[in-house]
Amino acid sequence: MLQGKKIILGITGSIAAYKSNFLIRLLVKAGAEVKVILTPSAKDFVSSLTLSTLSRNAVLVDLFDGHNWANHAMLGRWADIMIIAPLSCNTLAKMANGQCDNLLMATYLSATCPVIVAPAMDEDMWHHPATLENITKLESFGNMIIPVGKGDLASGLWGDGRMAEPEDIAAYINNFFLTRPLEGKKALVTAGPTYEHIDPVRFIGNHSSGKMGIAIAKELSHRGADVMLVLGPTPFSGLIKGVSIVQVTTAGEMYKACMDNFDTADIGIMAAAVADFSPTANAKEKIKKTDDEITLTLTKTKDILKTLGEKKKKNQVLVGFALETNNEKQYARDKLRDKNADMIIMNSLNDAGAGFGYDTNKITIFEKGGQEFPFDLKSKTLVAKDIVDTIIRLYYV
Ligand code: CTP
Repeated sequence: MLQGKKIILGITGSIAAYKSNFLIRLLVKAGAEVKVILTPSAKDFVSSLTLSTLSRNAVLVDLFDGHNWANHAMLGRWADIMIIAPLSCNTLAKMANGQCDNLLMATYLSATCPVIVAPAMDEDMWHHPATLENITKLESFGNMIIPVGKGDLASGLWGDGRMAEPEDIAAYINNFFLTRPLEGKKALVTAGPTYEHIDPVRFIGNHSSGKMGIAIAKELSHRGADVMLVLGPTPFSGLIKGVSIVQVTTAGEMYKACMDNFDTADIGIMAAAVADFSPTANAKEKIKKTDDEITLTLTKTKDILKTLGEKKKKNQVLVGFALETNNEKQYARDKLRDKNADMIIMNSLNDAGAGFGYDTNKITIFEKGGQEFPFDLKSKTLVAKDIVDTIIRLYYV
């Protein structure tokens, strides 16, 4: 399963770093290409010569070595997966807070691939509330945590905090690639707002940040799908591994991009906040404030979700969103029926932390068979995981 996989192994300053040699051997033996990045303090625990010999690649430590600049962004895009093992308490805290003071952190912060960590520390550090909070933060970013084991610790104490054994880490990575149930499937996702032009300098838009749809596109890709993200105007300008992004501005452009690409898709998830109305006339020149009042005539936009619901073939799964303020369940069920969707993800503006602009969301999934799946308030990354897990459970296992 690891044949040809590109893996970045980050090693941090922990006594468990000696086990990295064995981990590299296992990964390379299984056919993976491994590039090692050390934090400066990891250099005290392991030998670059051993690591470079085992990995068959130069070991990277510095952002700049006096001659060359290490391209951390390209490293993060090169990799199919990034593993940090051992993960020290210090690097964990940096990851949780986005601190960027070495090559490993720069690569982590710019990586577009999934990230797995194997923590290693003393028991008291492991159980400290700050560590727990940092681990929870990493989980909310979508990073995967390999649980620590119990046993003898560097302090001489016995308890929780030992890094998982190299064989277990290699098995976890192998399993990650094995359990990509959407491998070979295509997904079409919409996200963000649309802007409807009034004149060359003005538009009608909404507050959608696109974060929910972007998180869904990422999660689908992590689970093996080939994803096209049709994205309205948002501040997001990055790349996502396995996701091709089509930037659009108006509801009309989003409609066209979806019509052109839905036919070959297995899954369609319409998370965009598409404008329901667009100015009937788009003035060629800037409108002057000569009159005390002006009237703007609006025309209904084409409903993308509804149109795809009419076109949908038997083997296609179509998912829509419903952002409601009242009578939420009824409206969500009505949308499910009227748009011929398989699932509607409902979020209510009455729930604190849910809806536009937040990094969190609270959803209930309504499924066409009549089932309802309520979820707690979570980061949008974890909400995306719940959505994709539900799709896989209902339609792909
Ligand atoms: N949607 C779409 N194309 C549109 C409008 C909405 O694809 N032109 C999709 C959204 O991406 C979302 C769902 O439809 O998945 C939202 O349904 P919609 O009927 O637009 O909800 P509201 O705008 O809240 O409409 P209503 O006022 O009828 O509740």
